[in-house]
Amino acid sequence: MSRKAPAVPALLLTLALSACTGGGGVDGTPGGAGLRDPYFPKAGNGGYDVTHYALTLAYDPAVRTLTGTADITARAAQDLSAFDLDLKGLGVQGVTVQGAGARFGRAGQELTVRPHDEIQQGKTFHIRVRYSGTPETITDADGSKEGWLYTKDGALALGEPVGSMAWFPGNHHPSDKATYDITVTVPQGLTAVSNGELVAESTRQGRTAFHWRTAEPMASYLATLGIGRYEVHRGHVGKHRLPFYTAVDPVSAEDSGAVLSKLPEVMDWLELNFGPYPFSSTGVIVEQKRDATYALETQNRPVFPGAPDTTTFVHELAHQWYGDSVTPKTWRDMWLNEGFATYAEWLYAEDHGGPSAQQRFQEVYEHGEEEEFEDLWDFPPGRPGSAAVISANPVYQRGAMVLHKIRQTVGDEAFYDLVQGWAAAHRHGNASTADFTAYVEQQAPDEDFSGIWRDWLYGEGRPDHP
Ligand code: TRP
Ligand code: ZN
Repeated sequence: MSRKAPAVPALLLTLALSACTGGGGVDGTPGGAGLRDPYFPKAGNGGYDVTHYALTLAYDPAVRTLTGTADITARAAQDLSAFDLDLKGLGVQGVTVQGAGARFGRAGQELTVRPHDEIQQGKTFHIRVRYSGTPETITDADGSKEGWLYTKDGALALGEPVGSMAWFPGNHHPSDKATYDITVTVPQGLTAVSNGELVAESTRQGRTAFHWRTAEPMASYLATLGIGRYEVHRGHVGKHRLPFYTAVDPVSAEDSGAVLSKLPEVMDWLELNFGPYPFSSTGVIVEQKRDATYALETQNRPVFPGAPDTTTFVHELAHQWYGDSVTPKTWRDMWLNEGFATYAEWLYAEDHGGPSAQQRFQEVYEHGEEEEFEDLWDFPPGRPGSAAVISANPVYQRGAMVLHKIRQTVGDEAFYDLVQGWAAAHRHGNASTADFTAYVEQQAPDEDFSGIWRDWLYGEGRPDHP
């Protein structure tokens, strides 16, 4: 959750310094306007860490208006004269810091806040942002849509990689994880479903408020919100009696029945392979096919556009361990999410009468490029090269191939210890590709992984030998 404050932009520094000489006693500087992510340099903000978001939202699909109050608890990583939040679109009505009115300005996705009193390093402080408007649907470099998606009966919020700034202000980078309380008021008859557990639901004067609580740290790109008509099922799964909550668009209900009935079995299988489930509830949100072009591993409760097939279902649930609990430090580390989730598909098939992972690996190596993934050898998974391709095939397939090469090297028993140990070592935290290679080397000191890192993780093109 902590991160070094990046260097201060020169212009802001000048302003802060002049304030210093003029006023006396002010030695804070502004937090950075981004965390210098290799692919999304403006994502997130320097100088503080968020510990908790309490979002109080109201949405009316008929007029497409979102009204929100974000109560953000954060810890200052430096003396702060000013800091940024990320917020795209929407109007800001007011900002307070520690209860006192704060000046604010906006430039692109940066909401810059100048508190009345400087905040001291180490201090936990409270920010309130009141905002409203019609949220934006964001189009990514690869053409896919995220942010606030409009559905027939409501809306769907999806945040990978940068969509969450379309519906709440925050420190929108995966490295700053926080807990959440999300309360959403919608017209009576509609449901608002989000991450975590539903802790309260109440109807008054034709409007229903749903209060969702996420008690385990969550990266903001994994926050979701579905508003609409859903068939809701609640209960418990498995020997730990883990609560589940599934919200399914009635149009997708019939087609989803069979796969959703596998939830207990898939959760058991995932725990057996990857270790204890990291969160306190599970479930799904199933929309209609046309509502989105991809599924997303939103925390606790992945989103599917229409009934998922078993492979996609396993993929998104596997992300709860790899991606949601162990979250990449930067967007360049995306293969740690997608390689693991894809390899989980291979393992699941292997254990359920499908091809073995070895067969799948061989097939992808030999024919993947011609038959399934034209871009397969375009770049290595450990170094995708640009923001536009972090969801492309090399990250998924070659990421899974890296894991398979490790399994070939250490054998099955040590391999399962490794993947479970990795999930345990960084549970609810963040990790980078370098953390991963160091972890593997440390766990299996007698093996040589250098060829795997060189050819499979970082190497350009197709390795000569499978
Ligand atoms: N993470 C999604 C999955 O389950 C796919 C995805 C959607 C994605 N948007 C993205 C991956 C943006 C990387 C970046 O596979
Ligand atoms: Zn995935």
